[in-house]
Amino acid sequence: MEKIFYHFLQGLFLLYFVSASLAMTTTNITTDQDALHALRAHITTQDPHQILLKNWSVSSPVCQWVGVTCGSRHHRVTALDLSNMSLSGIIPPRLGNMSFLVSLNMSRNNFHGELPHEFARLRRLRVLDLDVNNLGGEFPDWFGSLHQLRLLSLNNNSFTGFISTSLANVSTLETLSLSFNYLQGNIPTEIFKISSLELIFLQGNKLNGQIPSSIYNCSQLQVLRLSLNHFTGFIPRGIGTLKAPERLYLTYNKLQGALPQEINKLCNLEELYLALNNITGFIRMQVFNLSQIRILSLTGNQLSGNLPSRMDKGLPNVEELYLNSNNLGGPIPDSISNCSKLKMLELSANNFTGPIPHYFGDLRHLEFLDLSHNNLMMDDNPLNGFLPNSIGNLSTSLEKMYAYKCNIGGSIPDEIGNLSGLTILSLYSNKLSGMLPITMKNLEKLQGIDLRDNKLSKTSLDYLCVWQNLAVIYLGENQISGSIPECIGNVTSLRYLYLGSNLLNSSLPTTIWNLKDLLVLMLENWLYSL
Ligand SMILES: *[C@@H]1O[C@H](CO)[C@@H](O)[C@H](O)[C@H]1NC(C)=O
Ligand SMILES: *[C@@H]1O[C@H](CO)[C@@H](O)[C@H](O)[C@H]1NC(C)=O
Ligand SMILES: *[C@@H]1O[C@H](CO)[C@@H](O)[C@H](O)[C@H]1NC(C)=O
Ligand SMILES: *[C@@H]1O[C@H](CO)[C@@H](O)[C@H](O)[C@H]1NC(C)=O
Ligand SMILES: *[C@@H]1O[C@H](CO)[C@@H](O)[C@H](O)[C@H]1NC(C)=O
Ligand SMILES: *[C@@H]1O[C@H](CO)[C@@H](O)[C@H](O)[C@H]1NC(C)=O
Ligand SMILES: *[C@@H]1O[C@H](CO)[C@@H](O)[C@H](O)[C@H]1NC(C)=O
Ligand SMILES: *[C@@H]1O[C@H](CO)[C@@H](O)[C@H](O)[C@H]1NC(C)=O
Ligand SMILES: *[C@@H]1O[C@H](CO)[C@@H](O)[C@H](O)[C@H]1NC(C)=O
Ligand SMILES: *[C@@H]1O[C@H](CO)[C@@H](O)[C@H](O)[C@H]1NC(C)=O
Ligand SMILES: *[C@@H]1O[C@H](CO)[C@@H](O)[C@H](O)[C@H]1NC(C)=O
Ligand SMILES: *[C@@H]1O[C@H](CO)[C@@H](O)[C@H](O)[C@H]1NC(C)=O
Repeated sequence: MEKIFYHFLQGLFLLYFVSASLAMTTTNITTDQDALHALRAHITTQDPHQILLKNWSVSSPVCQWVGVTCGSRHHRVTALDLSNMSLSGIIPPRLGNMSFLVSLNMSRNNFHGELPHEFARLRRLRVLDLDVNNLGGEFPDWFGSLHQLRLLSLNNNSFTGFISTSLANVSTLETLSLSFNYLQGNIPTEIFKISSLELIFLQGNKLNGQIPSSIYNCSQLQVLRLSLNHFTGFIPRGIGTLKAPERLYLTYNKLQGALPQEINKLCNLEELYLALNNITGFIRMQVFNLSQIRILSLTGNQLSGNLPSRMDKGLPNVEELYLNSNNLGGPIPDSISNCSKLKMLELSANNFTGPIPHYFGDLRHLEFLDLSHNNLMMDDNPLNGFLPNSIGNLSTSLEKMYAYKCNIGGSIPDEIGNLSGLTILSLYSNKLSGMLPITMKNLEKLQGIDLRDNKLSKTSLDYLCVWQNLAVIYLGENQISGSIPECIGNVTSLRYLYLGSNLLNSSLPTTIWNLKDLLVLMLENWLYSL
């Protein structure tokens, strides 16, 4: 009896295994349908039209459901695109049964909970895009099973823990995108050995340690974004051996040491962001040899020394150059005018000395110029005016110009009137003297002018009224005399008017009360807060 029972049990087990393995191997479109039903049952939606819930009806074939694509050969679901559909809910394990799935895009929804480890069975998966959801838990350790994966994108979720080394088994990976999660620890060295990687986005995590030097194996690397982490140590020299990089973003880490000399070999580099680190030493000549570079940002480091007075070919394609908040000194080299495509030039908060280069005016595309907090000119001789007359050649492109706290003497040249595109002119706390040139009437687009704390005198305020877009006028702490003109009442855009500490006649034109938007009015030592 016992024996018979034993055989019976054995038979049952056999049956169980046979049917189980049958079930494993004989999945069909019904399997996919069951999986999608399971998903549907877990979904709630903020979509008032309930498009998905209505469309995914049991009575219609799965392959006609919205977001579902089936392969023609096997008649199985190969792609599922539920992106941006205002869905929330958890992702059920049953989705791991959709063994023919090649592409899964559930980005921009509100899915939460963990990723089921049953996803490890999606062996054909090439694209997994779950960006901008609320998925979390420890970073999965089964991605290594997805041997065909090309794109893994989990940006803007809440994953924690360490980046699993198992990822290194995905030798087909081209895009690894894990930015804005809560990942910590090092980047595993093994991952940078995936030579097919083209895009690596890890910014906005809590990653630390050094950037692995194995990066030299990423021969296809085009974009590397590691900003907003806690990386320390040097920029790996290996970066210089790569040929493909177009964009490197390393802003806001704790990188130190000098710029690697090899950086000049990145002949395809278009954007380099190294702001807000602790990079020291000189800006090597080599940096000024990046012929493709469009944006170079070295703001907020400890760079010192002079800019090279000669720059081979210069940076012929640079449009944005940010060198502010370092310890750079010496003159601003004439050669900067070879950067003929410059739109933004930020040199503030350094220790540049001497005059503004004569050829500045050749920068015909300049829109933003900030030279503030430097030591440009200590000369009071108006013949050595702070701006070369050629500044007038900048003409209409320049919109914002800052050169406050620069120790600039002399008078403002007439040519400033050529800068007819100026919206903001800020030259406060210098030693400018003389009068405002009459040509400033041409600056019809001015929205803000700040010439506080200079030695301007002999200036009539009549033309204030020409500036019809003006919102901010700061002319306080000068030696301006006369009275405020009646026509000020017509500059209806005015919000801040500061004329205190001058030699003005104290009577106010009554028209000033026409200025309905005026918030702050400061005259002599009276502050009217409106
Ligand atoms: C899928 O396979 C199951 C058995 O495993 C079967 O019952 C079902 O009819 C099949 N569905 C289709 C559409 O072939
Ligand atoms: C579901 O949507 C698809 C694609 O928009 C459409 O072809 C199909 O007719 C819809 N089915 C139902 C039942 O609404
Ligand atoms: C996923 O869908 C979003 C939004 O529809 C789209 O922008 C994104 O490119 C898709 N992802 C992939 C990998 O195609
Ligand atoms: C997401 O959908 C909204 C409205 O339905 C649309 O405005 C937006 O462009 C979509 N975003 C993407 C990335 O497709
Ligand atoms: C699919 O997945 C579920 C849960 O993960 C499992 O119970 C079921 O047996 C699997 N197989 C099929 C063919 O649906
Ligand atoms: C990854 O590969 C290693 C050996 O190279 C192996 O030991 C490990 O189990 C693999 N991991 C996964 C998740 O495939
Ligand atoms: C991702 O998160 C970052 C930081 O919170 C945010 O700036 C960015 O807009 C988010 N991206 C999307 C597509 O929501
Ligand atoms: C990384 O590059 C080095 C030198 O080019 C090579 O010897 C090594 O095999 C590469 N490793 C991988 C995993 O490709
Ligand atoms: C920057 O680096 C210098 C020299 O390596 C070091 O003395 C200093 O403490 C660092 N500063 C920060 C903020 O890490
Ligand atoms: C700049 O690049 C040119 C080739 O484009 C090269 O001949 C020259 O040696 C480089 N100069 C520096 C300082 O790297
Ligand atoms: C700025 O440069 C001048 C002259 O080169 C030098 O005397 C001064 O110490 C420097 N100031 C700072 C803060 O580096
Ligand atoms: C203000 O503008 C009005 C209408 O444009 C004009 O008639 C008047 O003369 C102006 N007032 C002053 C004081 O310029």
